[in-house]
Amino acid sequence: MPNAISGFSKLSKSEKIGWLLDTYFTDKKAALTLVKQYWNTDQKLQKLHDEFIENTITNYYLPLGVAPNFLINDSLFTIPMAIEESSVVAAASKAAKFWYDRGGFKAEVISTEKIGQVHFMYEGDFEKLESFFETVKPKLIASTSHITKNMEQRGGGILDLELRNKSEDLNNYYQLHATFETLDAMGANFINSCLEQFAKTFKTEVEENLEDDIIIIMSILSNYVPNCIVRAEVSCSISDLKSKDISNPEIFAQKFKQAVNIAEVEPFRAVTHNKGIMNGVDAVVLATGNDFRAVEAGVHAYASRNGSYSSLTHCNIDNDIFKFWIEIPLALGTVGGLTSLHPLVKFSLEMLEKPTAKDLMQIVAVAGLAQNFGALKSLTTTGIQEGHMKMHLMNILNQFEASVDEKTNIIEHFKTNVVTHSAVVEAIEKLRK
Ligand code: MEV
Repeated sequence: MPNAISGFSKLSKSEKIGWLLDTYFTDKKAALTLVKQYWNTDQKLQKLHDEFIENTITNYYLPLGVAPNFLINDSLFTIPMAIEESSVVAAASKAAKFWYDRGGFKAEVISTEKIGQVHFMYEGDFEKLESFFETVKPKLIASTSHITKNMEQRGGGILDLELRNKSEDLNNYYQLHATFETLDAMGANFINSCLEQFAKTFKTEVEENLEDDIIIIMSILSNYVPNCIVRAEVSCSISDLKSKDISNPEIFAQKFKQAVNIAEVEPFRAVTHNKGIMNGVDAVVLATGNDFRAVEAGVHAYASRNGSYSSLTHCNIDNDIFKFWIEIPLALGTVGGLTSLHPLVKFSLEMLEKPTAKDLMQIVAVAGLAQNFGALKSLTTTGIQEGHMKMHLMNILNQFEASVDEKTNIIEHFKTNVVTHSAVVEAIEKLRK
């Protein structure tokens, strides 16, 4: 076991790498080459990436792919996706084309409210606190004016501030529960700054005017945003579902709807169903420089809002019309954060024609819906392994550094044979003998 190191963050990048090589690697040269291979030769660009986080030693690449032909509210988009999982981009592109030919996706932002809370403890009488809060509320809001000025000029700001009594859940626990409109910013810094100011002003006011004190525990935004909702939908007549892979649209539509209904009632299936949706959502969230952990946390909380984890998508067949839709909470930004810093985020946003946060919510929801459509279409028809193994085949061929000729030969072979890891290895070995 290595000794603990103090002052690691103060070391230079080369010193940090040197320490890692000395501590963990026998073949230091190979390890160093590997790390350096991933450095960008453009030093300015490398420095930019080095400074995104602490203790950076190199870059960790993910592929950035694109899925074209997304018709959303009659505008055509090519969607950027940063993701490592093979077949996600292919499935998105296929679903996009399928729905392009059937009128495309309709998307609508339902609400855009963000939430933040000051959590505090108070041992006194609630009614006293409540009436005091009402008198001091305008002062609390006014105390943030230096933070909210610009946001207010653009039409956003603090929407409301409430005192909430949580003492039945936890002794002496209360909150200032605030709601915000942060427009095109995800708003984390804005919200957290306002909350810390509320906490400071509230503490001072209570100390000066009430006999009982409060203890501020913390001030932080919530990533649960059940009132920041976007809806995306596709629909067509059942007969229009007919395609190369769907020979009997009636049976397809019924099975597809059952698959969605299963995810609505069965949490084990719902988690995987929603995971497939998040394949699309996260890939676009990441490509556009947004916080996919925040989105994940909020989306899954929303999926369990009725007490049991359930599907984020729904399906309906009515009067011969097949309708499939998603409703998810998405707190996204198209300004601030990484959006003006990371060159590939800038590229992605420009490719999406500089969307507002609302536009991006619609695009991301559509990507999730498309991904789910692709997964359920495969699962209820051919099964997913056929497509997955095709992509997997390519990964194995690359692992074995197959030449172009070897690839052509082996891909041809597996058009009529089942792809398994061992079968591919065997085929490569046979070819190379
Ligand atoms: C795999 O990444 C995602 C799927 O499992 C989603 C699903 O089962 O719906 C295919």
